Amino acid sequence: MTILETKFVKDFIRMADDGFAQGWHERNGGNLSYRIKPEEVAAIQSRLNAPGDWTLIGASVPGLAGEYFLVTGGGKYFRNIIVDPEVCITIIQIDETGEKYRIRWGLVEGGNPTSELPTHLMNHEVKKRVSNGKHRVIYHAHTTNIIALTFVLPLSDEVFTRELWEMATECPVVFPAGVGVIGWMVPGGREIAIETSKLMEIYDVAIWAHHGMFCSGENFDLTFGLMHTVEKSAEILIKVLSMRSEKRQTISDNDFRKLARDFHLNLSEQFLYKK
Ligand code: 13P
Ligand code: ZN
Repeated sequence: MTILETKFVKDFIRMADDGFAQGWHERNGGNLSYRIKPEEVAAIQSRLNAPGDWTLIGASVPGLAGEYFLVTGGGKYFRNIIVDPEVCITIIQIDETGEKYRIRWGLVEGGNPTSELPTHLMNHEVKKRVSNGKHRVIYHAHTTNIIALTFVLPLSDEVFTRELWEMATECPVVFPAGVGVIGWMVPGGREIAIETSKLMEIYDVAIWAHHGMFCSGENFDLTFGLMHTVEKSAEILIKVLSMRSEKRQTISDNDFRKLARDFHLNLSEQFLYKK
């Protein structure tokens, strides 16, 4: 089986194309990474390129030593992934120290993994640990409505979580731990990776003010679905705020407590601070 015929590569490409169709990936905006399962690596081992030079990641991820990732290329357009995946995406291998990577497939016209590789890998390292190895997908998208909200809401986990939960009853069910928010930072480096990975200790969603969102999940469906749900909630909130300055009625603290009871959700009292 060729690498392009494997299910995880097909699923990765489909998810990238779905994200483009949503309007979240203008130009080269956004990036996607998948921590490949050992049996999937074994199945493609004979089709990987001969190992080349190691490159510094720019972050230290010893918890990912020896792992393989499928990631989007830096500067590559999501729009083109489905057309020419071997040009736009790559399989990388992490060294035994967690300081370096090397390219083992893809990017056939040259290039590097995404500039957000430090954030992707630091998030993967945290999520691998806190989910006992279950989480495998990290997704960054330039979601229009969440970005717009970062100009008008206070940049606090409490306000964003509570406002997004209120916009649709499914929201606390889909992201019961809430969402984390960080103020504007320079993207593409170690510092923003550290701040984002701190949020990933608690949440599956991290919002970058005036930039976009990171989501983590066990598989492509759950991770895309999480991004989609949070962004749709933000769209509803923007519509509500555009129609009137105050909500006439909403989902109350006690309603959330009842939902938590009946759906067996752990909704923190941290977010139930209103009347
Ligand atoms: P890359 O093209 O390097 O993946 O960067 C896109 C982006 O969204 C940066 O935050
Ligand atoms: Zn971005």
